[in-house]
Amino acid sequence: MSLSNLPNRVPRTPRRSFLKATAAAATTPYFFSATSAFAQETAAKNDRKAIGLIGAGGMGRGNMRSASKWIDVVAIADVDAERRAQANQSLSQGKADVYNDYRKVLERDDLDAVHIATPDHWHTKPLIEAMLAGKDIYCEKPLTLTIDEGKLIRKVQQQTGRIVQVGTQQRSTFPLFVKAIALVQEGRLGRIRRVQAAIGGAPTSPPIPVAEVPQELDWDRWLGPAPKVPYRYTEGGRRGHSNCHYEFRWWYEYSGGKLTDWGAHHVDIASWALHANGQTDGPISIGGTAEHPVEFVAGMPQQHDRYNTATAFQFQVQFPGDTEMIIRHDTDNGVLIEGDKGRIFVNRGKLVGAPVDALKDDPLPEDAIAKAYKGLPMVENGRSAHWATFLHCVESRDEPISDVHSHMKALNICHLAGISARLGRSLKWDDATEQIVGDQEADAMLKRPYRDGYEIEMS
Ligand SMILES: NC(=O)c1ccc[n+]([C@@H]2O[C@H](COP(=O)([O-])OP(=O)(O)OC[C@H]3O[C@@H](n4cnc5c(N)ncnc54)[C@H](O)[C@@H]3O)[C@@H](O)[C@H]2O)c1
Repeated sequence: MSLSNLPNRVPRTPRRSFLKATAAAATTPYFFSATSAFAQETAAKNDRKAIGLIGAGGMGRGNMRSASKWIDVVAIADVDAERRAQANQSLSQGKADVYNDYRKVLERDDLDAVHIATPDHWHTKPLIEAMLAGKDIYCEKPLTLTIDEGKLIRKVQQQTGRIVQVGTQQRSTFPLFVKAIALVQEGRLGRIRRVQAAIGGAPTSPPIPVAEVPQELDWDRWLGPAPKVPYRYTEGGRRGHSNCHYEFRWWYEYSGGKLTDWGAHHVDIASWALHANGQTDGPISIGGTAEHPVEFVAGMPQQHDRYNTATAFQFQVQFPGDTEMIIRHDTDNGVLIEGDKGRIFVNRGKLVGAPVDALKDDPLPEDAIAKAYKGLPMVENGRSAHWATFLHCVESRDEPISDVHSHMKALNICHLAGISARLGRSLKWDDATEQIVGDQEADAMLKRPYRDGYEIEMS
């Protein structure tokens, strides 16, 4: 379907609460037209959701396992035949339909939702196509490789009204983060002056030689929209060094490195805290220092046989009203939130600071956590919580806790840090038009070229 033919935002048609149904083991079945035996079996099991998985790597499989009490994975696409076969066995007892081309998943009309867990350079295109195909999607972070892709995703999401949950599961899986946001929202830190996201550094690699493409891998499709380059692999590290599975994170061609890999998590929390404090305008400038394992000229890496994303960095991001965000690699992983009445530090294991200690005598109002969690039900702890919220939103049509708008607010900052790092200079940002001011070379990096045949089709 072309974007110009799309209906306006799909009206909310709340169905029965998924979470209520989960708790009460309700008996009304979901209605979808089942086209495969496994999907029919799934439909027969009350309340289970039929999911199509695109990208059956570490995270795709992990996510499907964490949601396994509610879902059946009835269709699996991966460009690695071994991975899709393994996923079929481990997730679906060998009963799912498997595909090399993810578009086969999107063509099906028997799915309740789609999960996209491909490498970062392969998020935007299938996500947009999935929305246009009328699917609700849980898509792994970061949703984009560029800021312009984010504009497109927001536009299509708004026009299609599809439910899109971003895989920034810190918002659900670790209740300490929600409590931190509640503290900010209730004014316990006063006015927030500074937030700091410490996200760790990134590895280097030795030179990685060109290697034979594994027989099971469709390398050309793995590259997809990215430039056509040879497959590389050498022994070393935990998984071997390569420009493919898992290690794609350390190549600007496929990812933003640590700045988007962990930035998507902690910059998201830092940005959520600013928003909870009423800071709705985005940044006005960003600058800092970054070290790369290879030389960059005009924003492009000059060596092509080793990891190239920033290994060490510190950025200052300036917001209107004398507020700043720091993004750094070199201190305790987590988020420090500083206000004029106190400061707190939060990560996946702890929430500390004087405003936290003060809760003993002055607890948060009863509804503070629920308010911070946008009024969505929180009935699950741990890894499945983000999936529980997503499946609830698929039914209720509520905006998910990790929605595309707030994700883009945070991700724009991560991408700007990446552009600033690659060019080695500070940038000025117009948040209203989402453009870099007075720097054409930097502004041109808001988009990326797509390889022939892998453009994002909008008409
Ligand atoms: N939310 C989190 O905490 C978290 C944690 C880890 C990874 N992730 C994200 O999950 C995504 C996947 O990461 P991973 O570590 O699982 O990587 P991975 O390399 O293990 O898995 C990616 C899979 O996608 C497949 N793939 C590539 N192109 C494809 C295509 N066109 N169609 C179908 N399949 C395709 C690959 O063959 C591979 O099996 C990344 O975007 C990453 O940022 C999120």
